[in-house]
Amino acid sequence: MCGSMRTKYTICFVCIVALVIIEKENNIISRVSDKLTLRQTPQTPLLPNASALAEELLNSAESSEQERASLDGTKHILLLATTRTGSSFVGEFFNQQGDNMFYLFEPLWHVERMLTLETGGTNATASAPAYRNVLQQLFLCDFKLLETFIEPPPVHHVTPALFRRESSASLCDDPVCTPFVKGVFERYHCKTRRCGPLNLTLASESCRQKQHRAIKSVRVRQLETLRPLSEDPRLDVKFIQLVRDPRAVLASRMVAFSAKYKHWKQWAADGEVPADDEEVKKLRGNCDNIRVSAELGLQQPAWLRRRYMLVRYEDIARFPMSKAAEMYTFTGIPFTPQVKDWILKNTQASKEASGVYSTQKNSSEQVEKWRFTIPFKLVQVVQKVCGPTMKLFGYKFAESEEMLTDKSLSLIEEKSFV
Ligand SMILES: *[C@@H]1O[C@H](CO)[C@@H](O)[C@H](O)[C@H]1NC(C)=O
Ligand SMILES: *[C@@H]1O[C@H](CO)[C@@H](O)[C@H](O)[C@H]1NC(C)=O
Ligand SMILES: *[C@@H]1O[C@H](CO)[C@@H](O)[C@H](O)[C@H]1NC(C)=O
Ligand SMILES: *[C@@H]1O[C@H](CO)[C@@H](O)[C@H](O)[C@H]1NC(C)=O
Repeated sequence: MCGSMRTKYTICFVCIVALVIIEKENNIISRVSDKLTLRQTPQTPLLPNASALAEELLNSAESSEQERASLDGTKHILLLATTRTGSSFVGEFFNQQGDNMFYLFEPLWHVERMLTLETGGTNATASAPAYRNVLQQLFLCDFKLLETFIEPPPVHHVTPALFRRESSASLCDDPVCTPFVKGVFERYHCKTRRCGPLNLTLASESCRQKQHRAIKSVRVRQLETLRPLSEDPRLDVKFIQLVRDPRAVLASRMVAFSAKYKHWKQWAADGEVPADDEEVKKLRGNCDNIRVSAELGLQQPAWLRRRYMLVRYEDIARFPMSKAAEMYTFTGIPFTPQVKDWILKNTQASKEASGVYSTQKNSSEQVEKWRFTIPFKLVQVVQKVCGPTMKLFGYKFAESEEMLTDKSLSLIEEKSFV
């Protein structure tokens, strides 16, 4: 009797929740279609026309360099990566810089989420301009375009829903951390302290007061699509592309995103990998995007000259301090004691400096641990579809299962990308 009452309550509760969710989705969809209509009306452009802007401001290369000189040394760092390449860790190198840095962690999460709702899937070609325009405005400390993608929409530029706010030191420091009011937005507070919901007007003011700005993103597919940022004379952008051995990335994703990678886990268990499977095609597409972006960056076309750096995860893991120092030299920003301390606390970098061979060997072992967690047949698939990408970055093929699991053989070629 009691049990059946409980069942009825449960069913009723589930129905109400479902209704609320459906209602919410409808709202989102209608808001999104309003926005789409707006975007398509030429008289009311919601997204700034970046190419027109760049063209107008860039009548001559000279005026652009003059404008940049007036930036007074302000740098805009974009850390470009894909998931499971250590980008949160490398992002900390900049987040920890100190009072002169305004760092944002994955702001494009909101853009991707809303565009996915719009179209029922992600379309890289269609998303690229939105990603670029949001990044451009954020580098100029303007959150208005990003706000249009935040769900629920911020009220008077205040939101409790910014993705991973706690990963940006500047959004948790004074004065952006407003007093926490008990009972309101209970969930939203920073790591070391509780803050009220995020006031984006305050965030923007804080951003303007800091000299340098850094953004990390795993969502940009092609470096080429960001060219207008490099050509915007109001910005001095430095692109850092972080890459990792795609075999290790697959091994790591199979653990981290276990539901999404269930096909791979199935194949790992029963042996056959269908070559024309969508998952395999996706892997090939990802590897191609990474390679095409890196090839472009390494060619150093005029618009990327002194603006592009390629970094391998494996080098950061083995030599965090020296790699961080190189990255800071590249950006032209002082490598502060705070960053050094953070790296010392969070790695074994203290031993790196002493040059003890066993330490280095041990770190290499850590970096190549994936070789014992993923079966050779999956390694073969990755090598087949990501071959050119692996060659470019200096990741050696394992020709046999014995070679894959031979600890005395490193699969990382020492390689420099300058
Ligand atoms: C953006 O500006 C360029 C250059 O002026 C122009 O050719 C293009 O049609 C514009 N695009 C939109 C969507 O307004
Ligand atoms: C993706 O977007 C582009 C540009 O809007 C469009 O031409 C293309 O058909 C879309 N692709 C898919 C698969 O929807
Ligand atoms: C957000 O901060 C700005 C700037 O200090 C302030 O004027 C505004 O009132 C704040 N908004 C809210 C809702 O508290
Ligand atoms: C390698 O590192 C692991 C974990 O940090 C440690 O337990 C082990 O003793 C180290 N081995 C050597 C040879 O230094």
